[in-house]
Amino acid sequence: MTDLLLTWFKEHGRNLPWRQARSPYRVLVAETMLQQTRVETVIPYYQRWMRRFPSLAELASASFDDVLKCWEGLGYYRRARYLHQTAQLLMKDHQGRLPRDYRTLLTLPGVGSYTAAALSSLVFDEPYVAVDGNLKRIASRLFTVAGQVTSNEVTRRLEPYLPATQPGAFNEALMDLGATVCIPKRPVCSECPLTSRCQAFLTGQTEAFPQKTSGRKIPRRTRYGLIHIAAKDIWLERRSHNEMLAGLWGFVQVQNRPVTGIILQDVHHTYTHFKLRLIPVIVPSDDPVLNRSRAVRIPLTKLTELAFSVLDRKILALLEQSKYLTTDNREPSPVSARIAAPT
Ligand code: ADE
Repeated sequence: MTDLLLTWFKEHGRNLPWRQARSPYRVLVAETMLQQTRVETVIPYYQRWMRRFPSLAELASASFDDVLKCWEGLGYYRRARYLHQTAQLLMKDHQGRLPRDYRTLLTLPGVGSYTAAALSSLVFDEPYVAVDGNLKRIASRLFTVAGQVTSNEVTRRLEPYLPATQPGAFNEALMDLGATVCIPKRPVCSECPLTSRCQAFLTGQTEAFPQKTSGRKIPRRTRYGLIHIAAKDIWLERRSHNEMLAGLWGFVQVQNRPVTGIILQDVHHTYTHFKLRLIPVIVPSDDPVLNRSRAVRIPLTKLTELAFSVLDRKILALLEQSKYLTTDNREPSPVSARIAAPT
């Protein structure tokens, strides 16, 4: 199986930017960005990141605000914080080098078993299986694994096939196979190098694996996003470090509908654990919740410099298209005309 896979990878493996130079820093950045995120989404972020922070030392000495701004829109922002902390730790305690030992890698901020295995195999040729969603799906089909496929099960099943010389290529071959051939729906088995070894294919059950586990529905939440604009300023809060979207700027979110205000079109986003419907409301300066919040007055001209979540950016885009906010703000905003600025 290993040879079939590696031969396929040589011919069909994707030409991804972080594969060109096997630098530990580049692999660290790429694998951190790739957690929970598709390759196509990551590529432009990765390229911009490398232009902005070309080395570990440059990342370590950057401000967290600059780091977050470069990550803006990629989601799971904790990864950006951990990556920044890891860069600083490596510069301080490891002479700017990535440790070779798997256990030591696991002690770095945000580095879990997937990333440690990816770094070990891709950078140091150490024999670890980097189990991501692609590998789980492939293993579930190759070995017709019943029920939910766990990382331990995938590791146990695939470890015997890890080649001694190119464990990184083995992992990346499986990732590419999972992304392009052994895809979730209607796998393209005619293109697969492993059909002769695939239990699901050989028994005509490729669509039945991975088996569906009790489809737990993720909960829906509705929140109101409080908007207040006066003169050339807008009221925003910065999410604190123990919250979701830590470090990002955004509109104050509340559960209860404000008593007075102008309701705008709602925006939606699906996070890992819930779906959020956010209803933007333009509130007056004496809105009690806004006044009790951590919101601060930010000049509209600063909006492009700050990092926002995708959902807050959607609200900003709505405002820009509306009569309530003009991008250059030459005109006095209708809200500022109606709502006096807090003193
Ligand atoms: N997904 C996560 N890491 C990857 C990699 N190195 N190549 C392709 N897809 C990936």
